[in-house]
Amino acid sequence: MSSALYFAHKGILFPNIGYDVETVKFVENEFQLLDDDVLNVTYPKSGTNWMQEILGLIWHNGDPSWVRSSFAWDRSLWIETTDGMKIALASPPPRLMASHLPFQLFPKSFLQTKAKVIYTLRNPRDVLVSLYYYSKFFKGNKDPGTVEEYLEEFLSGNVTYGSWFDHVKSWLELKGRPNVFFNSYEQMQQDLRGSVEKICRFLGKELNSQQIDSVVENASFQKMKDNLKSNFTTMSDDAFDHKKGKLLRKGIVGDWKNHLTVAQSERFDRVYQEKMRGVSGTFPWD
Ligand code: A3P
Repeated sequence: MSSALYFAHKGILFPNIGYDVETVKFVENEFQLLDDDVLNVTYPKSGTNWMQEILGLIWHNGDPSWVRSSFAWDRSLWIETTDGMKIALASPPPRLMASHLPFQLFPKSFLQTKAKVIYTLRNPRDVLVSLYYYSKFFKGNKDPGTVEEYLEEFLSGNVTYGSWFDHVKSWLELKGRPNVFFNSYEQMQQDLRGSVEKICRFLGKELNSQQIDSVVENASFQKMKDNLKSNFTTMSDDAFDHKKGKLLRKGIVGDWKNHLTVAQSERFDRVYQEKMRGVSGTFPWD
């Protein structure tokens, strides 16, 4: 790991591009969440931007003008980034925000509010592959090397935002709280309309059937890929090497099968079993 690329806070790595340790500490200890806040929380590459688009559309009753005219990162404030936190502080409620923080670094104020969190999970094998490609084009991440090398980095949690296993377990501790909704990338793929309806119920947003149709239509992979405000293609060359990849890459379930060898997938399974021992409940990929 190049020390110039990352900094560590409480054992979790963060990219130096767009982040700083003071902001990360402030967000954990002093950032005040409010009852009306809605937060889209994920481990990276679990469908964050998809959820952002969905929430942006729900926020405006299915009307796509906002998601087509305002950049994703302006619509949904990224609380642990240097700029996102400042904008979040200056924004009036209700605020739509996003975060990749594991629960132990999430704003402590959360537990004293009714702020709502939607936590989206994705099969960690697909997360690994998506992150592998993302790391080739996001300059804030270390070059991933080969899939074999990256597999070991991912399994040991030596990647930004730390171990997938620890992240997911930290959030699953909150299961049962009325203001935390667990969602998965796979459920959205299987039944996007059903997922949108559940999210609306969780948020207390009443959309009619046509409005829900519009959310579903405008949050499709193709619509997002074509949306210059959502597809990252206009992000600065300082942060992204656009020749090397794109955010809207494949958008499918199970792409890991095209990338991991049998031996690599068995190695993944062994670590998965060990790290997830004692975690109750089933996941869509089980
Ligand atoms: P792939 O790299 O597997 O294609 P995040 O938003 O958390 O960074 O995750 C990015 C992943 O979500 C990418 O996965 C991307 O293609 C996928 N994604 C983004 N929007 C999507 C959509 N509308 N439908 C399906 N997948 C989507």
